[in-house]
Amino acid sequence: MNPEDARNKIIFALDVNGLAEIDRYAGMLSGRVGMFKVGKELFTSSGPAAVKAVQQHGGQVFLDLKYHDIPNTVANAMLEAARLGVQLANLHALGGGEMMETAARAVQKEFGDDRPKLLAVTILTSSTEATLRQVGIEHSVQDMVVRLARLAKDSGMDGVVASPLEIELIRAACGPDFLIVTPGVRPSFAAADDQKRIMTPAEAVSAGADYLVIGRPIAKAADPAAAAQLIAAEIMAGCS
Ligand code: C5P
Repeated sequence: MNPEDARNKIIFALDVNGLAEIDRYAGMLSGRVGMFKVGKELFTSSGPAAVKAVQQHGGQVFLDLKYHDIPNTVANAMLEAARLGVQLANLHALGGGEMMETAARAVQKEFGDDRPKLLAVTILTSSTEATLRQVGIEHSVQDMVVRLARLAKDSGMDGVVASPLEIELIRAACGPDFLIVTPGVRPSFAAADDQKRIMTPAEAVSAGADYLVIGRPIAKAADPAAAAQLIAAEIMAGCS
């Protein structure tokens, strides 16, 4: 793998507050990571300006708003995400096949091949079997993850967000072209923080991940740009 491919696999989680912080990180990390993840907290505080601030630094955006609503509402929200010019956006597969198909069709119709890639969240990694039982689901977490990943693929999604431990199951069920984006990744030099079921970047990429979402190991490093470079080097070393 060449250095650019390794860098492009890193999605930096912009878990920050406000535009000044975005500017700081996007300035330091543009060209050193493949994408910046804008999530619910940052989007709720700063709105589309957060996306535009990243783009002004030349960065690409994964808009992580995990839509889950009636098909028409999700399709219209996805269209707005696409109009912001983001490269990745996501929804909850639990919203069902019709919701995913309606969103995929709407975005394809307006944007064709220039559309963002659409991802589905299967079962949140914070959920356990007990969480599923509470809401009336009697299957195991693993069975649900595979079932929802297949449904997402059949409904026109380009990929899923998944725990590192689910990568191989999903890859086997959904084939080589289905995107797998995984958080819960910790480079060898970093603390685990509150992440429990972790893999190193090289392990996750070897297992089949296309993108790695990494926040604190880069954000908390004394030199975030150097940390991103070290992670890319770990990916390259593990995948040569
Ligand atoms: O700082 P850290 O690398 O743990 O950040 C990971 C990012 O991925 C955070 O934005 C977190 O919300 C997100 N995430 C996660 N685990 C999931 C889903 C999303 O850590 N299962």
